[in-house]
Amino acid sequence: MNGIFERIRNAGIVPVVVIEDASAAADLSDALCEGGLPAAEVTFRTAAAAEAISIMKQRHPEMLIGAGTVLNGVQVDRAMQAGAEFIVSPGINPNTVRHCQQNEITVIPGTQTPSDMELAVELGLDTVKFFPAELSGGIAMIKACAEPFTGLSFMPSGGINASNAADYLAYDRIIAVGGSWMVKKDLISAGSFDTIRKLAGEAAQLVKDIRG
Ligand code: 3PG
Repeated sequence: MNGIFERIRNAGIVPVVVIEDASAAADLSDALCEGGLPAAEVTFRTAAAAEAISIMKQRHPEMLIGAGTVLNGVQVDRAMQAGAEFIVSPGINPNTVRHCQQNEITVIPGTQTPSDMELAVELGLDTVKFFPAELSGGIAMIKACAEPFTGLSFMPSGGINASNAADYLAYDRIIAVGGSWMVKKDLISAGSFDTIRKLAGEAAQLVKDIRG
């Protein structure tokens, strides 16, 4: 397992961040780190993503920071220049995957079906995102797919929250779950960093409770 995957597994839960204004990035990274969950997947759904990654990484070099919703090679390069350590995409685009592989960048593309997973294996990957997890059959679907794809590990996200994360974390073929429940857009824009710190702490505790 490469070092990034090991760090993702250690985090257990990766907060999926949608940040509209990069000026909130410093406080957000403080809240996650103080809560005991020093990790984030900052999504390229907003124009502030690259700047937010850069601010968070400079403030907390120990934080594990990936870029999410990355749809092409240009965004991969912007994310990496900003300080991202891994790339996540909602679907599996061979061009994006190959661009990452050629540049030795850890990439976790999204899969939803066995065909997506077969493509991932053909591209030489051993870890995929499973998205949108709850709408696509949840943990039962992951377990069913894990049977034939004996070498694949999964990072599910989409509809996972404090009440169902444990079901996913208990399965050893899941390296981590992604979710926005502790970093909801409205919490960030309202400056509710105390709440984010508390929810991050509860998420970190959940990982400890399930995985020890
Ligand atoms: C993702 O891109 O992984 C999802 O948007 C996160 O899903 P959630 O907001 O339902 O947690």
